[in-house]
Amino acid sequence: VDSETKALRELYAEATKLYHHLLVNTDSGEQALAYLTSRGLDESTIDAFMLGYAPEGNILYEYFQTQKIDYQLLRKSELFVEWSDGSLHDRFTDRVLFTIRDSSGHPIAFSGRKLTSDDDIPKYVNSPESPLFNKSNELFNLDLAKDTIKKQKTVILFEGFMDVIAAFQSGVVNGVASMGTSLTVEQVQQLSRLADKISITYDSDMAGQKATKRALDLIAQHSRLSTQVIHIPDNQDPDEYLRSNDADAFKQVMTHNIEDPVTFNLRYLQIDRNLNNQTEFFAYISDALGVIATVEEPVVRERFLRQMANEFELSYEALQDQIRPLLLRRQ
Ligand code: CTP
Ligand code: MN
Ligand code: MN
Ligand code: MN
Ligand code: MN
Repeated sequence: VDSETKALRELYAEATKLYHHLLVNTDSGEQALAYLTSRGLDESTIDAFMLGYAPEGNILYEYFQTQKIDYQLLRKSELFVEWSDGSLHDRFTDRVLFTIRDSSGHPIAFSGRKLTSDDDIPKYVNSPESPLFNKSNELFNLDLAKDTIKKQKTVILFEGFMDVIAAFQSGVVNGVASMGTSLTVEQVQQLSRLADKISITYDSDMAGQKATKRALDLIAQHSRLSTQVIHIPDNQDPDEYLRSNDADAFKQVMTHNIEDPVTFNLRYLQIDRNLNNQTEFFAYISDALGVIATVEEPVVRERFLRQMANEFELSYEALQDQIRPLLLRRQ
């Protein structure tokens, strides 16, 4: 690697160490540590993920000043915001820090979470792109998860940091996160080099379900990975589910609440639709047949058609008649 990359990595390593130290060893990090503990994280997890705390003020900048670090390097690091007079100020203040590591484990960015539920400030502040951090290429926790992903040939895709971390602490260690942003082709391609299968385990709220739909289509379009969807009950995200239940219940969900992509799509089509209304019901049937028509294997198609016939008390023959033109069009 070139000398600038080396120098920036060095800065991030130092920053990570400082922020972690402030979190676990100092009075200024006390509240943040209590926050993480209240969210169920234990000391070894906080260490493994190099979590940190950025206090109010300009502590990181001052720290690097004592080391006489070059101004241009500090600028490029994106660890600071630049005021119009050119002065640099810590980007992260009074936030818990999630350290984003590249696939070899070097810290390359941070995401800072607020400690309060104050709606007036953003929940997360993220590092912008930098020479080290190309957002669309990175997946949170890929470095730690890589070996297990390769061994199990399966990767679990979560939405958020806390989902990955909580799952990790409960023994599910092949999880990565797309960090809220939409999954990218680059991320899918990376995963397809390690795994055969992706378990999409996004939040069960509407945003999560929409993102799941999008991810399924993207993965199908750009890889040969097989996909499944894990449906977290009670409109929760994986971290919330783990907190209100336990590790065993979570593992049960991970092994039993599995939907194949067609089943997911059929359920997805029902969201926000009133099937008691005739017009919406027929629209649903038509859309659902469109999904089933994408299935290659006739036997599998028949299975879904019979399921639909049973569920809605329709005749199998009528469904067959209605799907036939869709199948012809596909060829
Ligand atoms: N995210 C972000 N900026 C936001 C909201 C979310 O970057 N304003 C990203 C974060 O990476 C976050 C992920 O999107 O982890 C999922 O968002 P969300 O489900 O809202 O957050 P949680 O991960 O559930 O965060 P928490 O449990 O701490 O509330
Ligand atoms: Mn430590
Ligand atoms: Mn969410
Ligand atoms: Mn969430
Ligand atoms: Mn959450």
